[in-house]
Amino acid sequence: MTSTESSSRNLYDLIWGVNRDSPDWSIGRFDKLYDLLGTFDINGKNVLDVCCGMGSKAYAALELGARVWAYDGSVEGPNLLKSNVENQTAIPEKIKGWRRYKLTKPDMENLTIVPGMDITDITNHFGNQKFDIVYMGWALMHVADPERAAKDLQTLAKPGGLIALTYYHQNYRSQLTLDIHQYTYGLPLEEAADITARLGKRWGFQKTTTLRELLEHSEGNQTLTALKKLIADKNYTIEQVEDALHIEDMATPYLLNLHDDVVAGYFAKQCKILYKRPGLLRVRKL
Ligand SMILES: C[S@@+](CC[C@H](N)C(=O)[O-])C[C@H]1O[C@@H](n2cnc3c(N)ncnc32)[C@H](O)[C@@H]1O
Repeated sequence: MTSTESSSRNLYDLIWGVNRDSPDWSIGRFDKLYDLLGTFDINGKNVLDVCCGMGSKAYAALELGARVWAYDGSVEGPNLLKSNVENQTAIPEKIKGWRRYKLTKPDMENLTIVPGMDITDITNHFGNQKFDIVYMGWALMHVADPERAAKDLQTLAKPGGLIALTYYHQNYRSQLTLDIHQYTYGLPLEEAADITARLGKRWGFQKTTTLRELLEHSEGNQTLTALKKLIADKNYTIEQVEDALHIEDMATPYLLNLHDDVVAGYFAKQCKILYKRPGLLRVRKL
């Protein structure tokens, strides 16, 4: 197991460890899927959701009649998707303005989950299996080698298949966020979890204190000590740092703002670009 796998698994399992019964995860799932793919025509298609997380888009794809493989480095994300499908927990949603699409209840028959595997093993895992649609939502900036991941997505797509991805682009994360990551990544995850929970910055937690108060008692806490050093080194205010704190940004192994042209370049040889905007790329495999 690589450190990437272990860390993203720990982190995302922790993030999804609270409020797991809330159906909020499902809100806006069709809009999100459409924004990524630019189509709802996926009935009967084989769809691979790479780094699916809790899989709201995978759930929507099932409702649209696709056969879905939902894969993630975390264990809880795909498992939550599975139990959400088994228990049909999504809030019913219509596709606004698209009467021609009939939605069906998602069915485990059409879902294969692949939890707990680092992305570097993805092509080994799927062997010669090829997909009509391969997408990766908000994860390329978290992996060790985005170019290799992009190559693997192309290996997994059929000729003529659609590949779509969203990622943090050029200036998506501020310099302050990148600095917080640089100063705090690798420190105990429990500390980041506790601090962000107490500041009301974690899903499901109410704010009970301020960073200023926490920093007054930072002895023995590596993360608070690191934040103090960051504030001193770079002249940020405590409030600026508190505003920018986010557990996902602190604790994911890689936090890259990717350049749109560089990402498009990963696909240039094997694919035709269908659509591109900052942080989103859609291509067709040749
Ligand atoms: C920001 S979440 C995105 C979840 C989902 N795709 C979405 O659009 O909501 C990033 C996902 O990438 C996964 N991930 C991060 N690094 C990974 C790696 N090296 N291998 C496999 N999965 C990874 C995490 O477990 C997490 O589910």
